[in-house]
Amino acid sequence: MPEIPPDREDTPIGRAAEAAVGVRGRAGPPWPRPPRCRILTIANQKGGVGKTTTAVNLAASLAQHGSRVLVIDLDPQGNASTALDVAHHSGLSSVYDVLVEDRPLAEIVRPVGEMPGLFCAPATIDLAGAEIELVPMVARELRLAKALRAFDTSELDYVFVDCPPSLGLLTVNALVAAEEVLLPIQCEYYALEGVQQLLNTAELIRDNFNPGLHISAVLLTMYDGRTRLAADVAEDVRAHFGASVLRTIIPRSVRVSEAPSRGQSVIAYDPGSSGAIAYTEAARELAVQPARTRPGALSGAGPRVRAPGPREWPVPRSRRGTK
Ligand SMILES: Nc1ncnc2c1ncn2[C@@H]1O[C@H](COP(=O)(O)OP(=O)(O)OP(=O)(O)O)[C@@H](O)[C@H]1O
Ligand SMILES: [Mg+2]
Repeated sequence: MPEIPPDREDTPIGRAAEAAVGVRGRAGPPWPRPPRCRILTIANQKGGVGKTTTAVNLAASLAQHGSRVLVIDLDPQGNASTALDVAHHSGLSSVYDVLVEDRPLAEIVRPVGEMPGLFCAPATIDLAGAEIELVPMVARELRLAKALRAFDTSELDYVFVDCPPSLGLLTVNALVAAEEVLLPIQCEYYALEGVQQLLNTAELIRDNFNPGLHISAVLLTMYDGRTRLAADVAEDVRAHFGASVLRTIIPRSVRVSEAPSRGQSVIAYDPGSSGAIAYTEAARELAVQPARTRPGALSGAGPRVRAPGPREWPVPRSRRGTK
């Protein structure tokens, strides 16, 4: 007769159940809330690296654990609005009205369905025109920062700004408005290419507009544990960004990619899935270890956003020694 394990959590299914309870915010001590609202811009001009997925799932997880979180969708594709099931068809009030028409942010913020504490400022396709319409405007880089300053963030713990895959004026507005950059990096071959341009842009913004801007977190996404390449990329990113890289790695998970089609975060869609557990763990890291990566953030003395020279840039191991 097979032996019955003494503890429920000592079996794989038991561990999954325990983790799911944790994802739902019913296990362990409550997460600390920051003393004041943290504004994080999620940026990487490379497309499809997990910016939106990260914004939505970190936000949902933090809200699940008692924080009040606003997701600002700054991408004309409106993917974050879709994933959070917030109406965003053309003509509705949206981030476009805030950036281009000077409407108050409070007018467009919507609560997210069944997730208390989670809010979304939706983007419509109208935002696609904003990149051009902003060009002749006065203080065009500062429009989101001004809107956020006029908005009462005292009731919020986190604002996540989901950027489009470009370094245009929308992303520039996001980098001017935030103090922290969260950089998702996909664990694959071309992952690191282009990150240097983002760092250069962030450095310029830091020097000209926003002295407190710093990279507070790098998150490795879509990790496929079966490939040597993913491990090499992860190792190289850690070698370069050091302690800013969250220990948690987000695995590639079908549940993560299915959740947006249900208008849900993966946290709500399948709390026991590997993706939900990983995003919950990444959110917990962000919540409990802010001091680790933002020393002196208020004084602007935090780690500099540094653009590595070409010789410093880590080459994925798989490309070393090849032509
Ligand atoms: N961990 C994951 N496992 C499986 N699929 C994922 C994972 N993370 C993201 N995806 C899928 O990969 C695609 C790209 O993700 P996402 O939209 O978050 O990237 P993005 O950087 O916001 O893209 P864009 O640059 O177009 O805004 C989506 O279809 C998403 O569902
Ligand atoms: Mg996106």
